[in-house]
Amino acid sequence: MMIAMSLLLMVFCLSMKEAIRVQLFGTQRINKEGMLTIGGIDAKTLKERYGTPLYVMDETHIRNQCRYFKDNFSHERVRATVIYASKAFLTIAMCQLIEEEGLALDVVSGGELHTAKKAGFPMEYVYFHGNNKSPAEIDMALALGVGTLIVDNDDELTRIIRAISAEEQIDIMLRINPGIEAHTHEYIATTKNDSKFGLSIFDAATLKTIRRINDHPNLVFRGFHSHIGSQIFDSDSFIKHADTILEYIKKVTETTGITVDKMNLGGGFGVRYVEQDAPDVGHTILKRLLDAVDEKTAALGIDAPEVLIEPGRAITANAGITLYEVGGTKRTFGGKTYVFTDGSMADHLRTALYQAEYQGVLANRMHDKAENTYTVTGKACESGDIIIRHCELPTPEKGDLLAVLSTGAYHYSMASNYNRLTRPAVLFVKDGTANVVVRRETYEDLIRLDVPLR
Ligand code: LLP
Repeated sequence: MMIAMSLLLMVFCLSMKEAIRVQLFGTQRINKEGMLTIGGIDAKTLKERYGTPLYVMDETHIRNQCRYFKDNFSHERVRATVIYASKAFLTIAMCQLIEEEGLALDVVSGGELHTAKKAGFPMEYVYFHGNNKSPAEIDMALALGVGTLIVDNDDELTRIIRAISAEEQIDIMLRINPGIEAHTHEYIATTKNDSKFGLSIFDAATLKTIRRINDHPNLVFRGFHSHIGSQIFDSDSFIKHADTILEYIKKVTETTGITVDKMNLGGGFGVRYVEQDAPDVGHTILKRLLDAVDEKTAALGIDAPEVLIEPGRAITANAGITLYEVGGTKRTFGGKTYVFTDGSMADHLRTALYQAEYQGVLANRMHDKAENTYTVTGKACESGDIIIRHCELPTPEKGDLLAVLSTGAYHYSMASNYNRLTRPAVLFVKDGTANVVVRRETYEDLIRLDVPLR
């Protein structure tokens, strides 16, 4: 039933003239005027009310994804917890939504933690990650009563031990590197043996670190964390990951006598950006993973630890679109045709950084036939300023609205002010209502922190 629901959330649309094949998600629809709508509001209205560039987040879709993960990541014999990886998309409103949906929160910096605090997020459900937490961040986490610190290495552990007072106690998980290679982009694969994250399970010294945590009177060793990468389609990697950690848990308990109560397997659940992407639609891996843990622990003769996962992208990516206004087109002497938008790599970094691919549409002309392949670019003063490398579109005209789909994860959170471009506003749309959850930056915002010479 839930799988059927999730499939229904993705509507595969062929435009009336059989021209543009677009996969729409969540509440995205095409109205009879041929306009893209999201959350019951059409793109033109959104542009008129809020301007462009604009990040538009489908609140219903985000909530459905949260519920989907919670409902499906459960098992009668294995305790299971879903934590939202806030680096994908974080604002105060998003923290509040996550709390309402009953997920825990993964933060990775003092800034993310501060956002959670301002949102009133319950601190006992916060997991604080990062490979180089500063003394100030550690103090902040202790003062706020953060539930769990995920320790990356011995230097960080030393800083925590220095910071914690005799009256305090905090749960600690250790980030480990199981050396598993997931098939994804090199920059977002994290557990190859040379990754900067965690301590290797193949290194004997890791056992010493575990003992160091466990022996400390104010630290409560709860277990291991690891994350094998992002945008992973190969579900078997997740199973292999869990099996490897469980074998390590058995080894640790046998050699040290230390019990391990929790196993956090990180995030990485892939999503569909373009038609060729083949994610695990319906996230069948969630059930498989817990079944696999149940079987593997039985085979190893150990108690099943609580299993935690940290999806980020899978919760928000398909819920977001970015709306741009077209300024014009240019055909180069070399034969390439650019569409100029009022955005840039500053609000859309993933194409430049990871050669990521996206679907783009003219949101005010969804019934028009695609006529050409365009390179969608923006205003930044850089040749790498590419939003979509190859985009099939009807001939764009000045004033058209170009929507880039699936920009709900790692877009707003990775946006910059390069070229002193102001960052777009972020809207939550739902049932015909739009709420600004981040207001558009102004030029005054840009110079707010500048200190003049005179
Ligand atoms: N947990 C940990 C410890 C992580 O490092 C990450 C992502 C996640 C969870 C969430 O992964 P997700 O479910 O979103 O794949 N900027 C890159 C992605 C970097 C991901 C870093 N860590 C991108 O735009 O593709």
